[in-house]
Amino acid sequence: MLKLAIFGSGSGTNCQAIIDAVEAGTLDAEIKCVLSDVEDAFILKRARKHNIPAIHFDCAPFKTKLDGEAEEKVLQILKAHGVDFIALAGFMRIVKNGLLNAYAGRIVNIHPSLLPSFPGLDSGKQAYDYGVKFTGCTVHFVDAGVDTGAIINQRCVAIEDADTLNSLMTKIHEQEHEAYPEALQWIAEGRKVK
Ligand code: GAR
Repeated sequence: MLKLAIFGSGSGTNCQAIIDAVEAGTLDAEIKCVLSDVEDAFILKRARKHNIPAIHFDCAPFKTKLDGEAEEKVLQILKAHGVDFIALAGFMRIVKNGLLNAYAGRIVNIHPSLLPSFPGLDSGKQAYDYGVKFTGCTVHFVDAGVDTGAIINQRCVAIEDADTLNSLMTKIHEQEHEAYPEALQWIAEGRKVK
């Protein structure tokens, strides 16, 4: 069984999908805590509703990464909660070496494109503006690069002529909510995923 921490910065719909899969018995994991760098992020409210410890940590003085004292604090929180695996779900900061080394090979992320296409920010918009006919989502291991780690699971979404960026993002999110719990279950089962 995975002893999971979920990190997010926003609405937490992927976190919700993981919580729902655990509660439905389709994902063999225990969610030990949910962490956010954003104090009023809805992901924390979702966790509290399910009686999961929901913890905000302050990343100052850094604006785009989790490093320094904040990273040390996060490592203490993870240890105190008995976490052995980390799922990033809309966590909008770069994870640095302290966490990467402490949880080597045990941090995964969900990204809203078919990597290696459209890494970084606003990937749905990047794909929409480029005019590709298919995009999707990717679950991947996290390494020191930006969205470069080994790929575990992908889902494809067609971009139709009638799609707006909003309708495309809705379709991507629907696929994410299936692909992420599925990938975590493969890992929980000890399947070879890369
Ligand atoms: C998801 O679409 C996820 O793929 C994306 O943020 C969204 C979070 O939604 N992540 C990234 O862009 C990371 N680079 P959620 O908070 O509702 O799960």
